[in-house]
Amino acid sequence: MPLAHEEHGTGPAVVLLHGFPFDRTIWHAQARALQGHFRVILPDFAGFGASAHLTPDATIDDMADAVVALLDALHITDPVVLGGLSMGGYVALAAAVRHRARLRALMLIDTKAAADTPEAAANREKTAAAVVASRDVVPVVDGMIPRLFGPITRERHPEILAPVRALMLRSSPEAIAGALRAMAVRPDRTAILPALDLPTLVVVGEDDVISTPDEARDIVAALPNAQLTVIPRVGHMAVVEDSPAVNAALATFLHDLPTPRARPIRP
Ligand code: MLT
Repeated sequence: MPLAHEEHGTGPAVVLLHGFPFDRTIWHAQARALQGHFRVILPDFAGFGASAHLTPDATIDDMADAVVALLDALHITDPVVLGGLSMGGYVALAAAVRHRARLRALMLIDTKAAADTPEAAANREKTAAAVVASRDVVPVVDGMIPRLFGPITRERHPEILAPVRALMLRSSPEAIAGALRAMAVRPDRTAILPALDLPTLVVVGEDDVISTPDEARDIVAALPNAQLTVIPRVGHMAVVEDSPAVNAALATFLHDLPTPRARPIRP
């Protein structure tokens, strides 16, 4: 069954992949901003949002294949722009390796190319086992919240945190555990970056402590055709902490992309 998804607008396809543990709705501000010129497609990864059915033991590569299967189901054969927030960025990079011909450009938002350290991977495995055993997602969610948002958002705009926390709490223990295990075993993608010729926009919150500005700069330096936008005064959740700034960066990048070549007409 293809991934559940929402579509907004018409035009060249832009697919936005959510992070962990969110769902497609994390992109609503971006969809509203882009739908006037683009066909914005927001999938839910398996187990999250309306894609309730979990694929057990799915890897990040499997998640990339599922996104391409959704494009197939939608009969989208022209290359798309693929954007990913954090875990969605890991999936976008996997798609760039596995399905290069289906992509026109990448937008990597508050994400990284490196794999987990052994300690981080072991922690994820421990957390995955604990959340399945306890069936209580609150400790995982509340453990993440302080690191997701920048200090300025936490102090001055606490109203931004509550809806994101509520969204995270809707995730099932199984979906959380599955995604944690997928992220723990994901490969390091840094070595493939120099050969990845897709036009790429890298966006990072200035105060992101999960995927740092230094990591974003490293990605841009390694890629042959990439540009960086640092969003001031926000953390990992730049897409909700300062959606107007993120939307402006995405819109400028998308409008500047070379027009997709017309497909050859076969008799
Ligand atoms: C995310 O936002 O998707 C996660 O923080 C990514 C991660 O835990 O590596």
